[in-house]
Amino acid sequence: NNSKKEEYDMLYKIVLIGDSGVGKSNLLSRFCRGEFHMESKPTIGVEFATKTIEISGTQIRAQIWDTAGQDRFRSITSVYYRGAMGALLVYDITKHPTFDNLDRWLKELQKFAESNIVVMLIGNKTDLESLRAITSDSGKKFAEENHLLFIETSAKDTINVDLAFNIILSEIF
Ligand code: GTP
Ligand code: MG
Repeated sequence: NNSKKEEYDMLYKIVLIGDSGVGKSNLLSRFCRGEFHMESKPTIGVEFATKTIEISGTQIRAQIWDTAGQDRFRSITSVYYRGAMGALLVYDITKHPTFDNLDRWLKELQKFAESNIVVMLIGNKTDLESLRAITSDSGKKFAEENHLLFIETSAKDTINVDLAFNIILSEIF
C-alpha cells in the first residue's frame, strides 16, 4: 500500500493507454511492485500506483494511472488525462490489431491530453518472440513518424520495464 509517507521533490502523473490485453496493468505491477500475473483480469475503471526514483539527485515520484483498454470498462476520459505529463502507449507485439489501433489512441491523446505531454510507444511481450506479428522496425517507424519515444518490453521476463519508466521520467524532468 501507499500509505507510507515518502519524501519526494517532484510528482509526475503518467497514464497507461492501449488496447485491452496488451499488458498495461502488468507493466504497472512489474514496475511498482515487482509482480507479474499470468491470469490478470481486465481492469475496470481506474487504478493507480506510485514509485519514487532518483534522477540527478532529485526524488521523482511517478504516479502511474492505469485504466481499461475496453471502452465499456472505462470511466471519465478527461479526468484520466488531466495533469498527465507522460503517456505510455502500449501494444502487444504478437497482436496486429493492437498496433492498428494506435492511431485511435493518438487521437484520444490529442483530444484530451496537454499538447506538451511526453508519449512513449511500448511494444510489450517480447518474450513471445516466436509469435511476433509486428517487427521492431515497424514499431520504431511508427514512433518516429508520430514523434514518440519507443521501446520494446516484457513485463513477464522483466525486460526494459524499469528502463521504459526511467526514460519517460527523465524526458519529463
Ligand atoms: P485491460 O486492463 O483489459 O486494458 O488489459 P491490460 O492491458 O491491463 O493487460 P494485462 O496487464 O491485464 O495483461 C493481459 C494478459 O497478458 C495477461 O494474461 C498477462 O499475464 C499477459 N501479459 C502481460 N504482459 C505480458 C508479457 O510481457 N508477456 C506475456 N507473455 N504475457 C503478458
Ligand atoms: Mg489492465
